[in-house]
Amino acid sequence: MDLSLATNFIISVGAYITSVRIIPTFREKLIKSNLIGHDLCKKDKTKVPESLGVVTACVFLVAMFFFIPVPFSFFLNGKDDFSQEEFVELIVALLSICCMILLGFADDVLDLRWRHKVLLPTIATLPLLMVYYVNYNSTTILVPKFARSFLGLTVDIGVLYYVYMGMLAVFCTNAINILAGINGLEVGQAIIIAASIIVFNFTELILGNQVKAHRFSLYLISPFLATSLALWKYNKYPAKIFVGDTFCYFAGMTFAVVGILGHFSKTLLLFFIPQIINFLYSVPQLFHFIPCPRHRLPQYDSKTDLLHTSTTTFQKDKIGRFGFLFVTLFRKLKFISWTEKPDGTVITNNFTLINLVLVIFGPVHESIVTHMLLGIQVASTLIAFIIRYPLASYFYNK
Ligand code: UD1
Ligand code: MG
Repeated sequence: MDLSLATNFIISVGAYITSVRIIPTFREKLIKSNLIGHDLCKKDKTKVPESLGVVTACVFLVAMFFFIPVPFSFFLNGKDDFSQEEFVELIVALLSICCMILLGFADDVLDLRWRHKVLLPTIATLPLLMVYYVNYNSTTILVPKFARSFLGLTVDIGVLYYVYMGMLAVFCTNAINILAGINGLEVGQAIIIAASIIVFNFTELILGNQVKAHRFSLYLISPFLATSLALWKYNKYPAKIFVGDTFCYFAGMTFAVVGILGHFSKTLLLFFIPQIINFLYSVPQLFHFIPCPRHRLPQYDSKTDLLHTSTTTFQKDKIGRFGFLFVTLFRKLKFISWTEKPDGTVITNNFTLINLVLVIFGPVHESIVTHMLLGIQVASTLIAFIIRYPLASYFYNK
């Protein structure tokens, strides 16, 4: 029985109960401070308080502050093998997460520009990469069997590994935020990713692989899951609160931190398959090859209470070469709807996974779209485990 893990679990339960209790209080406070958004997929565009993620993020931090002395005191009593390095890693992990909570809250209040959303997570990852360098500094990757005859068993990619980890943090923090806009989706996907990480950590612990690293990951991810479950209770359809960008960045950074310091940054990406698809699909709009409206969430039809795809409009001959290339490819693959008027005006759906589901299945009720997308997330986790275990051992084992 691992006493530190057991204590962490008890603290997580406490964090869940505390969050469930205090969210309604802060909900009122946020309404009073006018930090509210309009639920765009409802008949009367209901006013809903924003940024409740900041509340659960704070509960998470407090839970972690209470937890930090635990492995250390078990270590002093000879019941745990907690080391100085792990202590530093925990502190640095919380430092990076804290920075992203601050950035998220700033974004909710100030509506930051995209360049800040890319730059700031990169900077917030630097302490993390530093501690990785000092404590671990493994930058080698295992070469698949078919390439070993000319590359050898492992390849050291050196500084590129650090570039990859920095980019991973930027990706994770933004990926959840751009797969958003319908009730429960932000927090729902984060819950499934967190649960997948926990299953993976326990599997590796049982197999006896990198025990310390996976235990470290569990220390952070269990209270995260607990506080997110509390958010879900209030954010699921019909939403009583919005989680805000605060939550999206907080969640993304927590995943990046456990992936990097838990030494499973490549496996972590497998749990982000829907987010990767959504990002790739979004590229033409994110890089403005195709016009990108402020909101790309689906269009609400008050007569039927169903969601339709939201659209973007442009002149066919005014999109650049890249834009043309992307839309031609997407049209061939039947990934987008396409209406062309005689004057060359084109109307197509916004390129998000939510809209893609609606392109395929037609108008659907909001809660059902959320469940469909969360279903895709669960299915992706199953695929991730198949890739990580049977397939990886086929390609990598001697
Ligand atoms: C990202 C997306 C944007 C999407 C938005 C929805 C990109 C590039 N940006 O922008 O397309 O519309 O998230 O969160 O992909 N809202 C709802 N129902 C919900 C959740 C949010 O109506 O369940 C609306 C509310 O008006 C809320 C607003 O979305 O106030 C929050 O949007 P915000 O987080 O500021 O948008 P971005 O993250 O900038
Ligand atoms: Mg957002």
